[in-house]
Amino acid sequence: MPDGINVDYDGLIPNNVGLNEDQRVRRALETWHPGYIDWWKDMGPDGFQEALVYLRTAISVDPEGWAKFGYVKMPEYKWGILLAPAVEGRTIPFGAHKGEPAWQEVPGECRAMLRRLLVIQGDTEPASVEQQRHLGRTAPSLYDMRNLFQVNVEEGRHLWAMVYLLQKYFGRDGREEAAALLQRRSGDRDTPRMLGAFNETTPDWLSFFMFTTFTDRDGKMQLGALAQSGFDPLSRTCRFMLTEEAHHMFVGESGVSRIIERTCQAMRQAGITDPTDVERVRALGVIDLPLMQKKINLHFSLTLDLFGNEMSTNAANAFSSGLKGRYHEDQIDDDHVLLGATYPVLRLIDGEIREEQVPALSGLNMRLRDDFVADASVGLRRWNRLIEAAGFEYRLQLPHVAFNRRIGEFAGLKADLGGRILSASAWSAAKASFLPDAADGDYLASLMVPVREPGQYAGWIAPPKWGVDGKPGEFEYVRIEG
Ligand SMILES: [Fe+2]
Ligand SMILES: [Fe+2]
Repeated sequence: MPDGINVDYDGLIPNNVGLNEDQRVRRALETWHPGYIDWWKDMGPDGFQEALVYLRTAISVDPEGWAKFGYVKMPEYKWGILLAPAVEGRTIPFGAHKGEPAWQEVPGECRAMLRRLLVIQGDTEPASVEQQRHLGRTAPSLYDMRNLFQVNVEEGRHLWAMVYLLQKYFGRDGREEAAALLQRRSGDRDTPRMLGAFNETTPDWLSFFMFTTFTDRDGKMQLGALAQSGFDPLSRTCRFMLTEEAHHMFVGESGVSRIIERTCQAMRQAGITDPTDVERVRALGVIDLPLMQKKINLHFSLTLDLFGNEMSTNAANAFSSGLKGRYHEDQIDDDHVLLGATYPVLRLIDGEIREEQVPALSGLNMRLRDDFVADASVGLRRWNRLIEAAGFEYRLQLPHVAFNRRIGEFAGLKADLGGRILSASAWSAAKASFLPDAADGDYLASLMVPVREPGQYAGWIAPPKWGVDGKPGEFEYVRIEG
């Protein structure tokens, strides 16, 4: 049933791609599987491999009911290969081949480019699991611990999704890439993950929530662009991955919301009217709003780097050849070919940040980054409404796109949060007010004390409004003894 929504759930690898009839790919995946489990045990959640975790597992791609919940030991999780249903008569939505039937096989001239796209996307999935592997030990509640592990197993499934495409469509090259995806390690000096933000550490839960808010949202934008692909198996794969990705951003955004709620509540109880009185706020054992702002500055700027150079021939080629579209390509009202069109891009010209019209094809990374910023702003407004409702004037903000960048036009530029260029000395003087410093890290570390009683929450975070799968807050989301 390669094109149906029915899933063969009984075999080693649940799938709706007809693996039983595809001996070659099935064997390749079964050969890859033990290495994946070894990787999961070595690099997955540290200390909880035997715990029973109340997880959702994808068992269908029917939007009405695609998941089931139940206790699972993570190494026994069913990582399946699931593609969204095929769309009858689908055509290539953009680029030079616009309007032709969508490809079911990889067009010869696109092989190298497509393989690169799959490997880069695939590499981010295990990377984030590695970055988050220590966090289970300091979870502020069983509910949060469960959400962390849910995100982790789904990132594992996303790796499976990319590995399937590599093994199915790229033969020996694909098998080699699939093996290499298990060999690189986040933060490793010799064999790091491919992209910068995926080699950073995630030392505490505020970082985790910021990472899932911002960096998983980069994932959403990339998958959104790949879901438009003229290569139909990639489009279908990404469409289903997006269903899971939404939950990751929910975990991040609601996590930060709960921290804000708790902080505002504690400040009110203590009669603090100035949220920037960091010393007094920290004496209450909650996370001050200025520190949340610094973490936003850090994670937002690291994530912007993932969109690559403002002007990019690779992005132009990926679009023109029909492999990677724009976010919501099918909802944009233009010719979807973009020859002769222009797009405004911020550039550094004569030492000044200025907007310049560039060929729209060259500016596609920028367009995706702008879509990301707009999407991220929505969550920020929600956070600010909580602060406002609690009666405080403080507002969180996204820093300027030129702030703290390592890639593109603004790499290495010393700009402040508003995008004003600073002298080296002004930057050094102000840096500790922009980005978390060692003292901030130590303070957060001091709060990261595990809470493992069902229904109990660490003092720096409010309980969630709702539990998972209709379960109450005091439900035992993780049975640690297994
Ligand atoms: Fe993912
Ligand atoms: Fe994700």
